[in-house]
Amino acid sequence: MATRAPFLKARYSGYHHRHVPSEDTELTHVGPDTPCGEYMRRFWQPVCFSDELKDLPLKIRLLGEDLVAFRDQSGEVGLLELHCPHRGTSLEFGLVGPKGIRCCYHGWLFDCDGTILETPGEPADSTLKDRLFHGAYPVHEAFGLVFAYLGPPDEKPPFPVYDSLIRPGYRVLPGRKYFYPCNWLQIQENTMDPTHTAFLHTIVSGAVFTEEFGVLPELDYVETPIGMIYVGTRRVGDNVWARMVEAVLPNLQQVAPIWENGRKERAFSGPMMSRWLVPVDDTHTMFIELRHLGDDDDEIPEWWLDRGQMLPGQLAMDTYEESQRHPGDYEAQVSQRPIAIHGLEHLAETDRGISMFRNQVRRGIRAVRGGKDPHGLCRDGGVVIPTYCNNTVLRMPAPADEAVDKKMMREAGMRLAKDYLKQPPLRAAE
Ligand code: FES
Ligand SMILES: [Fe+2]
Repeated sequence: MATRAPFLKARYSGYHHRHVPSEDTELTHVGPDTPCGEYMRRFWQPVCFSDELKDLPLKIRLLGEDLVAFRDQSGEVGLLELHCPHRGTSLEFGLVGPKGIRCCYHGWLFDCDGTILETPGEPADSTLKDRLFHGAYPVHEAFGLVFAYLGPPDEKPPFPVYDSLIRPGYRVLPGRKYFYPCNWLQIQENTMDPTHTAFLHTIVSGAVFTEEFGVLPELDYVETPIGMIYVGTRRVGDNVWARMVEAVLPNLQQVAPIWENGRKERAFSGPMMSRWLVPVDDTHTMFIELRHLGDDDDEIPEWWLDRGQMLPGQLAMDTYEESQRHPGDYEAQVSQRPIAIHGLEHLAETDRGISMFRNQVRRGIRAVRGGKDPHGLCRDGGVVIPTYCNNTVLRMPAPADEAVDKKMMREAGMRLAKDYLKQPPLRAAE
């Protein structure tokens, strides 16, 4: 089957679109033994919020695997294969006990690391439990989230600590968790598509962010040691507002405050949010957020402190008609198909960030396949990893000529980005 549909060159050419090419499986399939699935498994992935683990087990689907998460009464968290190794009963119906989880069917008891502690009903001299383990994955709790490592045990990296998450004078709070019924890549690559903000989030559905977002920014894209940023610059009166939103490989995004309007000079703001887009399977993705709150930041709107409130334009509309009248990110991204088909796309100038991001992911996938570490994976335990997401507003009155102004804005944005790369501001604040 063709991997790319023909470029239609005449009116009424629909007939020539005979076949739908298949998706780019290398970048989109995430199950065990798929190239992207193995790549994703080299990174610690968030599983759920810590406070979701109460007295009952939590059924989890992650990277195409069915799992159960629980916190036993000693406080330890386990992430085990969902189905009991005895005869397959789901451990979502298990009994969480003083130590581990017990299958509801015949009472086998599993510790958080997969050790089988008891096989009641088996003869007293049975050695089965000493020889067999149940499938388990290592977990790490941080920032109110439970993370897991689903990769090869010998390749396990230290848990990464990004500077934005331990910023002095700031706290991170768990935010929302929600799901889109589509592939992870079309969601994460949207991070590098600021052009949609000026259309989808402004003209189509009314200004959901500040009005200044309605102006198409001048755009550049810069690779960082852990992924990439876009550098969008806009003119706001005598100011130039540079906005840098960040994709951290493979599936973390950091978003600069959306309440920025560029009217006040501002040094590097840092992010308002770190959000992982975790593949549930090939056609479902979990969003899981951490919100950044500055102790002395009085610009943060009230609603952002309320965990139940959302960033505007992200959730599905309540009715089909409403979704047609006011589509947002959900409608735009989910309707790209369950897995967007790159062979039917026509990437244009404003999609440079999309191409750059896909190339980064492809390089990472191929590195893993070649037995190497992917870009963005940090092997140095204890190192704080710099990140680059921010709004910065500079006073820089406009020259008379608009073209000269645009060039000046782009250069200012790129200069800032390069300075930040050289001297990451959140590290400097430590
Ligand atoms: S199926 Fe779980 S103990 Fe028998
Ligand atoms: Fe959006």
